[in-house]
Amino acid sequence: MTETNPNEIVIVKSENSKINTVDFSNLIFGRVFTDHMFVCDFEDGKWQTPQIMPYQAMTIEPSARVFHYGQAVFEGMKAYKDENGKIFLFRPNENCNRINKSAARLAMPKFPEDYFFKGLETLLRLDSEWIKPGVGNSLYIRPFVIATEPAISASPAASYRFIIICSPAKAYYNEPVRVLFAEKYSRSADGGVGFAKAAGNYAAQFYPTSLAQKKGFDQIIWTDASSHKYLEEAGTMNIFFRIHDKLITAPNNDRILDGVTRKSVIQLAKDLGIECEVRRVSVKEIKAAAKDGSLKEIFGTGTAAVISPVSAFEHADDVFEIDQIKDSYASLFKSTLLDIQHNLSDDKHGWRYEI
Ligand code: COI
Repeated sequence: MTETNPNEIVIVKSENSKINTVDFSNLIFGRVFTDHMFVCDFEDGKWQTPQIMPYQAMTIEPSARVFHYGQAVFEGMKAYKDENGKIFLFRPNENCNRINKSAARLAMPKFPEDYFFKGLETLLRLDSEWIKPGVGNSLYIRPFVIATEPAISASPAASYRFIIICSPAKAYYNEPVRVLFAEKYSRSADGGVGFAKAAGNYAAQFYPTSLAQKKGFDQIIWTDASSHKYLEEAGTMNIFFRIHDKLITAPNNDRILDGVTRKSVIQLAKDLGIECEVRRVSVKEIKAAAKDGSLKEIFGTGTAAVISPVSAFEHADDVFEIDQIKDSYASLFKSTLLDIQHNLSDDKHGWRYEI
């Protein structure tokens, strides 16, 4: 068996770019994909020669384990272009480490870091025209791994496919979001997979979220599964609360995704001299703060969502509207983060990664 190496990516270029058919000023999140994709199969106990090929449909047997047991993990990343045409990723090591933590939890093989970076860089260079300069533009990158072995006994697969697809993106949420605090359903539990970017974590939210949407809410803020008393994360975003001038966010644990934007905001708060407590935050505390006027802001953080303000929340039929304040922390963090990502400001923590 010959060893493969990430520098031997087999590249088949697309003959006709689709780029001229895309209206970059009217993008709906995640609907349009670039010309190429990266694919690497795990067979016979090792990752095979990586390939870059035109974005296309794939043939996978209906018995592939991913379809039956949801053995699938993914990441969300973005690439940015500055006015000089330089391309940057933001803290990509975090995504590389996290997809492997997620994979380990789902009994999937580790994807080597050098393959991850080589694949990503080669793909982004090939599809670089799809990354538009300017704050507000980005290329959303979706690395994911699925269990492809055609076998339906309930055990981990022997073969997998690692894929990267890319989609030009603008905002995920165009307006501040209205959220419901979970009272009945749960996203995750102690000892479970909540911390992992497991595909099933997202599917499990769709039904309760659809009920919330019928009531006029965009998202659910999940509470801890055992008591429903503590606020955890919003499923597509981690969540921050501002009471007076202090920020509060829930600590990482088995149930909460270790968000890259979340940890960046905690660091930026420190840099900007904003007090940020990482501790359990109760529904009771937030309702009391909303009642006495000390709750100034709630906002979500995530790669897709960037920083998304919350304009209202409901719990136990009590609805609280949150006035959007001028000089909000949400807008301060958003502009600080976007400036770093787009190479418009200093990068003292070394978060930018030039392609
Ligand atoms: C991301 O922010 O990258 C996510 O993975 C959230 C996603 C469900 C859109």
